[in-house]
Amino acid sequence: MKKLTLFFLLMASALFAQIETPEQKKDRLAWWTHDRFGMFIHWGLYAVPARHEWIQNYERIPAEQYKERYFDKFNPDLYDPKEWAAQAKKAGMKYVVLTTRHHEGFALWDTKFSDFKAPNTPIGKDLLKPFVEAFRAEGLKVGFYFSLIDWHHPDFTIDRVHPLRGNKEAIAGNSKKDMNRFRKFLKDQLTELLTDYGKIDLLFFDFSYPGEDGKGRKDWDSEGLLALTRKLQPGIIINDRLDLNNVPGGYDYVTPEQFMPARWPERNGVRVPWETCQTFSGSWGYHRDENTWKSSNQLIAMLIEVVSKGGNLLLNVGPTARGNFDARATSRLDALGEWMRYNSRSVYGCTAAPEEFQRPENTFLTYNPETRRLYVHMLQWPFKTLYLPGFKGKIKYAQFLHDGSEVKYTVSAKADDASHMAITAGDQDLILQMPVEKPGVEIPVIELFLE
Ligand code: GLC
Repeated sequence: MKKLTLFFLLMASALFAQIETPEQKKDRLAWWTHDRFGMFIHWGLYAVPARHEWIQNYERIPAEQYKERYFDKFNPDLYDPKEWAAQAKKAGMKYVVLTTRHHEGFALWDTKFSDFKAPNTPIGKDLLKPFVEAFRAEGLKVGFYFSLIDWHHPDFTIDRVHPLRGNKEAIAGNSKKDMNRFRKFLKDQLTELLTDYGKIDLLFFDFSYPGEDGKGRKDWDSEGLLALTRKLQPGIIINDRLDLNNVPGGYDYVTPEQFMPARWPERNGVRVPWETCQTFSGSWGYHRDENTWKSSNQLIAMLIEVVSKGGNLLLNVGPTARGNFDARATSRLDALGEWMRYNSRSVYGCTAAPEEFQRPENTFLTYNPETRRLYVHMLQWPFKTLYLPGFKGKIKYAQFLHDGSEVKYTVSAKADDASHMAITAGDQDLILQMPVEKPGVEIPVIELFLE
């Protein structure tokens, strides 16, 4: 019996493995790896209370009350996805991922499988169709975020992250719920999303929390969802939150969120494709009173740091209940766009620098393997010289990226005690000659042409 199980397991993984070679996977992910920078959008009923997309959970609100309070207030009269798409494009973002449904279970599209959807609110229409069209028209790739969790569906059992956790009466009701029906519902909704909106480039499932009172692959039928997704949208890219991390082909990339990984993430000692999703202020949904907004400088540096570690950045905007981006978001997107306008060459198509290049102090390095150019991002403006440790003989030309102006450099001069003018540096170092004044760019970049 045991042998038979093992045999089937091996067969199954052989089948999965056969689906795609590492080369084929690399090709399938090529646009995403190249583009590096995307926009996440969290938008749902929670934009109305405007105090976190988990408000139903944090404030332990039963589904009926939540619906009663916010459903008929959802009237985003300023919603213009063309404007969103234009702002994303201007910021230098190349793809978008929208919450088609979040944990509250509210659908932005005209689903046949639930009444809890935008077309039934005062706005009275499918919000997804115009969204997809607008972003495609701007040339951005389109991804869907799809919540596995559903705090609205009657068959979704109360678990440890449910708004009604600890509520004995509600928990007693679990015995009457039928998760089979819920699993079917998930597949039905997913099928709509992956059939009615053309080519979908990426799917962001969210999220699994296996273990006691949790939910994982069996509860969602993750294998079934994965197979369905790959069948309906061959070529689609899928994140790692289905709880299939030890299944071959169970995910395409890993998703550290709300922190900066120390280095390029690995699985079993091998570097894996990764994307970090980040917020402007902490919450994903529109949060009116959150006063922990990252500065434009921090956000630009974040993008650079992510690419310097071989990853992607999915930066989130939470539109308001009126349907627009709030001014704090817009000003940051503009700043990113201003920087990207002159410096995107150090982002698109770039990755971590080869290990032989040690990063100079207060800088991040990125590298384009195609053009063989190395980019030095100057987080702190130095005084007159930038030392490139061990770079002697490795570069043939240097220029600023923002204006294409030459940067002159010398090989290290030996320390000379007799002269107070002598520059000291290692004899394998290069010394770039910097203007005293920092150029008018938030984070200046030097482009080095490698030998
Ligand atoms: C978490 C949260 C969620 C957010 C997501 C973004 O899983 O549950 O609110 O959508 O992170 O990655």
